[in-house]
Amino acid sequence: MVGFMGCGKSSFGRRLAGELHWELIDTDREIERRADATIPEIFSRQGEEAFRKLEREVIADAVASECDTIVALGGGAVCREGVMEMLAGVGETIYLKMPTERLVKRMSTVGRAKRPKITGMGDAELAAFIEKTIPEREKYYNRATFVLDCGDTPDDTLLRMLVQYISNLDIK
Ligand code: S3P
Repeated sequence: MVGFMGCGKSSFGRRLAGELHWELIDTDREIERRADATIPEIFSRQGEEAFRKLEREVIADAVASECDTIVALGGGAVCREGVMEMLAGVGETIYLKMPTERLVKRMSTVGRAKRPKITGMGDAELAAFIEKTIPEREKYYNRATFVLDCGDTPDDTLLRMLVQYISNLDIK
């Protein structure tokens, strides 16, 4: 599952995995577990490149998993050549496409503080950041096998749509 920061990949991922009785890998949480540090700590102590290296290792391990697994990927995780292709080789990718206004509303001050790239931003600054960054990232996000245009559809309805989509896949 891919999408911009704050679109709900972690919470949809958790709920989806629960409904489907699948495994869940949340890349951000797995990186924190392996590094024994929070994402802001990794960024400030080791820099973004070190974080991206860890992120890539976690994705490579997730791809190697033999179980039915939902992978909730950090917003920047797929924005390098080769990552979407690596994921496409083993399964479906879902892009949760969400309007800027909804992303801004979803991300509290605390949520922003957990994300080094947007820490301390007010609503207007965050909206401008999203508007600038999404077109750059959509080059990758839009390679997903399914784009769920979230609009203002309620979370519970989106979850049902995701369950339906995955249930209809011909997964052996
Ligand atoms: C990032 C998104 C974050 C986290 C890190 C960098 C990004 O994950 O991986 O702060 O570059 O978009 P979420 O998308 O889960 O917030």
